[in-house]
Amino acid sequence: MTFRALLPLALAGAALLGAGCAGRAVDSSAADANSGKTLFSQNCGGCHALADAGTTANVGPNLDDAFRASRTEEGGSFEESTIFDVTLDQMKLAAPPMPRFDTGPQALTEEELRNIAAYVASTAGVPPQAAGGATGATGATGATGTSTTP
Ligand code: HEC
Repeated sequence: MTFRALLPLALAGAALLGAGCAGRAVDSSAADANSGKTLFSQNCGGCHALADAGTTANVGPNLDDAFRASRTEEGGSFEESTIFDVTLDQMKLAAPPMPRFDTGPQALTEEELRNIAAYVASTAGVPPQAAGGATGATGATGATGTSTTP
């Protein structure tokens, strides 16, 4: 019930965020965040929690936590393009245990890296409602594991 009460507030916040997003990242707009979501689950979800993707691993930092602070502290001026750049750089300059994704056996194409960066930039630290994620809610209910088990 607390969650229900919070929903309108979250939606109001989403509207405000949306209004401030006129200068949306040039870099990430060309990338395919939907494809990035799948790639994220496959390549990053084993180590990183991200609410929109429904991943909960904690080998690496929780990416919602990592970027939420930036979004709120800067009042939105820490733009998506910056998160996009940070994520893209991190995939190329990662130090162990995080593998580099521009080289080596797990290497992805530049396009794939940009899609992942765009996905992270559009969802990390954003309340699930604002990220367009009915997926966030699905992830939460999944934990109850209802009637599918024999
Ligand atoms: C084997 C585990 C592992 C995998 C797989 C992995 N990471 Fe990481 N990642 C880490 C760890 C550990 C850190 C912290 C590194 C550090 O602080 O130096 C990190 C740091 C990061 C950061 C910086 C977070 C911050 O707080 O500044 C980003 C962004 C990131 N990873 C994105 C990704 C993306 C995107 C992928 C998939 C393409 C990915 N990671 C795959 C383990 C992983």
